[in-house]
Amino acid sequence: MLLIEKYLSIKKKEVEEALEKYLSPTTTYPPIIHKAMRYSTFAGGKRIRPILAISACEAVGGNTQDVIPFAAALELIHTYSLIHDDLPSIDNDDYRRGKLTCHKKFGEAIAILSGDALLTLAFEIMSKQGITEKTNSSLVLRVIYEIAFAIGTSGMIGGQVVDIISENKSTDAPTLQYIHTHKTGNLICTSLRIGAILGGSSQNQLRLLTQYGEYIGLVFQIIDDILDIEGNKEVMGKSSQSDISKNKLTYPSVYGLEESKEWAKQLHQEALTSLESFDHQADPLREIAKFIVQRSY
Ligand code: IPE
Ligand code: IPE
Ligand code: MG
Ligand code: MG
Ligand code: MG
Repeated sequence: MLLIEKYLSIKKKEVEEALEKYLSPTTTYPPIIHKAMRYSTFAGGKRIRPILAISACEAVGGNTQDVIPFAAALELIHTYSLIHDDLPSIDNDDYRRGKLTCHKKFGEAIAILSGDALLTLAFEIMSKQGITEKTNSSLVLRVIYEIAFAIGTSGMIGGQVVDIISENKSTDAPTLQYIHTHKTGNLICTSLRIGAILGGSSQNQLRLLTQYGEYIGLVFQIIDDILDIEGNKEVMGKSSQSDISKNKLTYPSVYGLEESKEWAKQLHQEALTSLESFDHQADPLREIAKFIVQRSY
């Protein structure tokens, strides 16, 4: 029986060691930006996207060392998205990962720039991999493309834009689905895909892991919406009731809490079904799906 907490903490450590290596020291000129980048990156965080990339690589029998730089890049991109998401002009939140948000600590200008810098650093790390390491360069290029596509206007940014313009609008299920699959689902699904691709997956394995990723990507945001209502802000490390105060389009606002929880259960089952043809090497992915649905932070 796999102990998921142990597994997550081992993988988290591996990811954090890589992040430590890639982020410049706080003394590097100009120090303020490096301090801000490290402040937000090391404030905590579940590291779920990089771990999913590593677990997908394991599920297809690949060498996880090949994935680590890309896993670190995914976490830097995610951290950038959180810094910008919290800005006064977006969600205007004061706490993140148990600490003051980047703009509360360093001011808005530095927060914007540190988001930009984390995003840029992610692409620097990934492209350097194709130039200097023995990882197959065409695979690296494909992975970089997939990540860029997932976080652009057809992906995460598209979702964030529709999230913002849907505030104070009436209930609309298709728009809600678009927001959730784009602002959160795409990066999660892509994390799995790049782990699988770098791990040498077959076409069929990639298709099934993509399916799994789509289900858990959507359920991840549904649970995030539920936690915004029912979660404990100390445990989550971020404000609760943030969506209600901004009249956001969320699963509970459209379907109510009970139906949202029912959706989450169903999506969890669908995710597990997608993994049926995988052997025990996919057990971490099975457990992560459960963790995502049952989490309290
Ligand atoms: C929060 O993501 C933002 C969403 C996309 C829902 P996480 O819940 O993964 O946040 P951290 O990284 O653990 O802080
Ligand atoms: C954030 O969604 C999605 C991205 C950062 C891309 P939320 O706005 O719901 O995330 P939290 O609740 O602030 O973490
Ligand atoms: Mg938001
Ligand atoms: Mg937010
Ligand atoms: Mg939220």
